Amino acid sequence: MREMAVFTGNAHRAFAEAVCQHLEMPLGECEVFEFSNENIFVKFLENIRERDVFLIQPIVPPVNTRLMELLIMIDAAKRASAGRITAVIPYYGYGRSDKKDQPRVPITARLIANFIEVAGANRVLTVDLHAGQIQGFFNIPLDELTALPLLADYFHTLRLPAPTVVATDVGGAKGARDVARRLDCDLAIVDKRRTDNNERAEAMTLIGEVEGRDCIIVDDEILTGGTMVSSVRLLRDRGARSVYVSCIHPIFAPRAYDLLDTKEIAELVFTDTVPLRQPFEHVPTRTLSLAPLFGDAMHRIHTGGSVGELFL
Ligand code: R5P
Repeated sequence: MREMAVFTGNAHRAFAEAVCQHLEMPLGECEVFEFSNENIFVKFLENIRERDVFLIQPIVPPVNTRLMELLIMIDAAKRASAGRITAVIPYYGYGRSDKKDQPRVPITARLIANFIEVAGANRVLTVDLHAGQIQGFFNIPLDELTALPLLADYFHTLRLPAPTVVATDVGGAKGARDVARRLDCDLAIVDKRRTDNNERAEAMTLIGEVEGRDCIIVDDEILTGGTMVSSVRLLRDRGARSVYVSCIHPIFAPRAYDLLDTKEIAELVFTDTVPLRQPFEHVPTRTLSLAPLFGDAMHRIHTGGSVGELFL
């Protein structure tokens, strides 16, 4: 069996270190930096010939720089004769550009899949894509993990007396239903509208009953926080007793720190796929680490074990 090697760029070193800690192996030495002309340079500082190489890099802000780092790392690994290259992408940037939903727009999630393949990746490992269909943009094997059981397990420990899981739109209902099933509780769905491309969302109405309930909103990602705050207001207006907000990918644009830092939210729960820009001051937060799940999946990929069994 080829030896395993794990490297990271500059997107989220703490996550890569946590994965390596779980795997009980060192994070590989690799230089990834920009020259003054903004050209990115990569150099592996150890031999990776014929090794099973995993490159951990979420596509997080500054998104285009982190994406280029990943692509150039893949190219460098290929030219260094790595035996196999797995792009480990805890957050797949541009994932919301997954369809042509307006005239004359791109499908950037597909374009990025092409980039990753052309650069030379042999496999991809990721978690909770914005839309599962993005898997099909790749012609190489892709394993998509899910953090929904981790979210459900956490909320289970809170022993909320009357929980209802809430999806922020119809697109998120499948994931929210999964969490509701695991918690054996009801599901409600917000009817959310976006009018144009200005990043503003409005919660219009609610399908389901929340009066007197402890609501747990589940979404795949939070960017501006607009979807969440308008959903929290709607649930409060409809008589919810408390509102917990959760997401898998805490992208948190600067505006989100103003909108979400409110005592209207009982707790803000997210995973560590994305590094935080800054801490919150008022709202209680909880970070659930996905590093063990990624470490287990990487070990299984390396040894030819089943990744699906992680979710049985
Ligand atoms: C949208 O389809 C996603 O599931 C999230 O609801 C969205 O990304 C949240 O964006 P924002 O925080 O900017 O409202």
